[in-house]
Amino acid sequence: MNLGTEMNDFAFVIHPLNPRQDVARKYPLLGKLLPTSLIHFFSRFWPPVYLSHVTGVRSEAAEKEIEGCLVACPLTARQMLRLPPQVVYKKIIQTGRLVQRLGARILGLGAFASGVGDGGVTIAQHLSIPVTTGHSLTVAVAGEALKQAALRRGIQPELATAAVVGATGSIGSACAKLLAPMVAELVLVGRQESRLSKVEAQVREAGARLVRTSMHVEDIREACLVLSATNAVRPVIYPQHLKRGAVVYDVALPPDVSPRVARERDDVLVIGGGVVDVPDGVDFGFDFGLPPGKAFACMAETMVLALEGRYENYSLGKQIRVEQVREIAQLARKHGFRLSAIG
Ligand SMILES: NC(=O)c1ccc[n+]([C@@H]2O[C@H](COP(=O)([O-])OP(=O)(O)OC[C@H]3O[C@@H](n4cnc5c(N)ncnc54)[C@H](OP(=O)(O)O)[C@@H]3O)[C@@H](O)[C@H]2O)c1
Repeated sequence: MNLGTEMNDFAFVIHPLNPRQDVARKYPLLGKLLPTSLIHFFSRFWPPVYLSHVTGVRSEAAEKEIEGCLVACPLTARQMLRLPPQVVYKKIIQTGRLVQRLGARILGLGAFASGVGDGGVTIAQHLSIPVTTGHSLTVAVAGEALKQAALRRGIQPELATAAVVGATGSIGSACAKLLAPMVAELVLVGRQESRLSKVEAQVREAGARLVRTSMHVEDIREACLVLSATNAVRPVIYPQHLKRGAVVYDVALPPDVSPRVARERDDVLVIGGGVVDVPDGVDFGFDFGLPPGKAFACMAETMVLALEGRYENYSLGKQIRVEQVREIAQLARKHGFRLSAIG
């Protein structure tokens, strides 16, 4: 590690989602030898890890090039869900302090690190640099991608039934509010009735015409458009759950849609992961699982804020504000970030 000599306008925290595969990206031998159960166990005691220097994040609009770094909070997704939030916060804050020592000016939280507990608020309170969960751009990208995919498949959103799985979550509820005025009917799927009722009320206020709530994923079978954003560590959507010709946008990391859907349902279009194209020239210096030049929307939000010189807490807390979703989408476009091709 090159502490102190590199320039870091931003830093982004990732963590293992698929334990063996993700550990092997940094420690090939450990990923091969350690059984998954031991990775979960050790992840609690392993210190934060510097992964790479990110270079070549360029904006023509700002006539600017920035650099940053990727760091890993070692906790696996399962540990982030199972351990008490205070223990998880402590590990993420420890990772944030490493980032501070590296001189970064803003910290982005990835995957479950952004969803734990109060959605970044406590973490930001314990750090001297600003923090963002990246959720505003994730929601903007999900909404836009689902709309584009629908049109490509000849589905008119205003006539369609859409479903949001994980509708009680931070990203899920914001996506539901965004979709509310665009579609004919909305099915909200979650696990807790009381939380679903709250989101239902917000979605009605956001302009939904017809809304239903459900605690059974089977109820998405009537939907042409499905957006999934749960924090489940295993898939929740299987081939039998999907309507013929449905379009599914899967924001979740790890994915909510079972790989069986791709194998068994060639009538269905599944788009994975809230992915954007970063302007040409970026080098992440580390394989975090996407093809070169692509980033998760939450990472992109951190880079966009740094390009814009907005070193401030941005998407924080569980409630995402629609104005911020619109603003960050516009800033991302301005700096040359694009929705990845829908394949
Ligand atoms: N692509 C990107 O750029 C990006 C960026 C950030 C996050 N993410 C991913 O997006 C997902 C959501 O993140 P978040 O921060 O919004 O999480 P969150 O606020 O913790 O919400 C997740 C929601 O999913 C619900 N849920 C869990 N299992 C479910 C199931 N089987 N059926 C229905 N609902 C279920 C939970 O309900 P209960 O509360 O009742 O358990 C919770 O309300 C995560 O997978 C995260 O890694 C992606």
